[in-house]
Amino acid sequence: MCGIAGYIGPKVAAPVLTVALERLKYRGYDSAGLVTATADGLHLRRAEGRLRNLQEKLEREPVSGHVGIAHTRWATHGAPCERNAHPHLDGGCTVAVVHNGIIENHDHLRKELQAGGAVFASETDTEVIPHLLARLRRDGLDARASVRQACTLLEGSYAFAAIFADEPERILVARKGSPVLIGRSRPAADGSRELMIASDIPALLPHAQEMAILDDGDIADLRAPGTVEVEHDGAAKIPVFKRIEVTADAVDKGAYDSFMAKEIAEQPAVLARLLDSRVRGGRLVEPDLGLDLKAVNHIVFLACGTSWHASMLGKRFLEALARVHVEVDISSEYRYRNPVASGGTLVVAISQSGETADTLAGVRLAKSKFLPVVGLVNVVTSTIAREADGVLPLLAGPEIGVASTKAYTAQVLGLFLFAMQVARAKGLLPEAEELRLLAACAALPELVTATLADETAVVEAADLFAAAEATVFLGRGGEHPTALEGALKLKEIAYIAASGYPAGEFKHGPIALVSRHLPVIALCPRDAMREKMLSNIQEVRARAGRIIGVGAGDDPQLRDLCDLVFPVRSAPEDLLQPILSILPLQRYAYHVAQRRGCDVDQPRNLAKSVTVE
Ligand code: M6R
Repeated sequence: MCGIAGYIGPKVAAPVLTVALERLKYRGYDSAGLVTATADGLHLRRAEGRLRNLQEKLEREPVSGHVGIAHTRWATHGAPCERNAHPHLDGGCTVAVVHNGIIENHDHLRKELQAGGAVFASETDTEVIPHLLARLRRDGLDARASVRQACTLLEGSYAFAAIFADEPERILVARKGSPVLIGRSRPAADGSRELMIASDIPALLPHAQEMAILDDGDIADLRAPGTVEVEHDGAAKIPVFKRIEVTADAVDKGAYDSFMAKEIAEQPAVLARLLDSRVRGGRLVEPDLGLDLKAVNHIVFLACGTSWHASMLGKRFLEALARVHVEVDISSEYRYRNPVASGGTLVVAISQSGETADTLAGVRLAKSKFLPVVGLVNVVTSTIAREADGVLPLLAGPEIGVASTKAYTAQVLGLFLFAMQVARAKGLLPEAEELRLLAACAALPELVTATLADETAVVEAADLFAAAEATVFLGRGGEHPTALEGALKLKEIAYIAASGYPAGEFKHGPIALVSRHLPVIALCPRDAMREKMLSNIQEVRARAGRIIGVGAGDDPQLRDLCDLVFPVRSAPEDLLQPILSILPLQRYAYHVAQRRGCDVDQPRNLAKSVTVE
């Protein structure tokens, strides 16, 4: 986790860096800091807690300098306090470092450095890096050689940036296992450029118009007025800069009070964009995955969190349309098994960020077994996208709110289109059926708009149940993943103990939870499972439970049985209904969280991109 940023250019570095941190704070937000470099030395400012604490400190104690590095932290080693906030410096303040990742041999290095006289000021793993660099400089290495040598001694994963006090116009960056990008502006009239580094594209905006991705093992040397040299294994490497497609608007909240609210509202446009890229003249456009899908007889989905819920729907789609055997695996479990790798197996990694450490490890494990890997990712510059054999982009645009919303519905639709692609490759999708399913997909953006337009019952329920200590979500078939996803949303942003169950399983134990204090949210759209769900709702009602139904607004039986109904439009194809059913649950979590005074974009203890184990 954590986000790192850096700037070299004509502007005052501190404000540029705090904007970059603002865009990276979804990666961690328990402390923040920056250092600038001038001829007078290194100037450090750090603050515990939210970024605004650092901003207030900078207002009280401004720093000058046109070169700087900055960090927003999600604590791994050491409590989230100012002492442990980055940047970290060596005892003599000769070098400052910001770091994303984990240095696994930090204990050993710390003891060795302490034996040589280093005095540590924090409990972090990161602090070994500046002490190590300072020692290597004292041993006579120049700045770049010291970074090169340090990388041979550091174990674990990192993207780090270092500034040396005796070279205040230069930033050195190294990558192994954690993402980092180099950004640069268009050249000014005199040929100079502004340079940036960042863990993610939004933080490069608006100063950089082009970016290059560092690979594992790369060391980049950035110098004023705009040169970038990269080396790999000691040999020079030409960085490939590409135009940045994301605009600054896309990473701004605009008129919304939170990124989550904005991203929920964006869903019709996101689905329309994905369909636009995958349907031409009513027929499916098949991205080239470099694979013979006809020969695939077993698919393994790897994912975490919300992406895992989407993959559960992917299994249903593939089984229904392509009759392929599918396994859904949580990445952190898959990576520590010795999964059977048989011919005909395809691994599909699903990840919004494309940087989730466990999913990436699963991808690497699969590749080590010579299994082909497809990545269904939102961030197409991510490590998973680059390491997968084929990529299915979600095109959802930057998702900044920690709670995934628009990426989830895009994942579900993306998986549906992928299932159609596999079905077509296997000769199981007659043209008429393809046209029918794509017409059903085409109806989704409007149905999503209509469903989102009616949130009266959601607001009413949030008023009634915001103080509840627990909430249960029930669903059957395709709505079981919706129940899990609805519960995850409520847990992560409203801190309510929420659980999702397959409704048929509820009576095997969890029904003991039911009382008049427990809201039970029952997903009961007009699909093949409706009658069974109505029976499950009766079971809860018979035990005095408080029931919120999620289904057709004009379903009289549902209205009779439930205290409240969240109305959702009916999809023309049952398989697609979960895309609509999740919408009121996203909004319910949002409204409940607001009533409980929670920060929906930055829930406690979390970070959006989980790049550590
Ligand atoms: O970027 P990924 O899709 O790989 O992230 C996976 C999970 O960390 C993520 O979905 C997480 O569960 C979200 N906070 C859910 O809202």
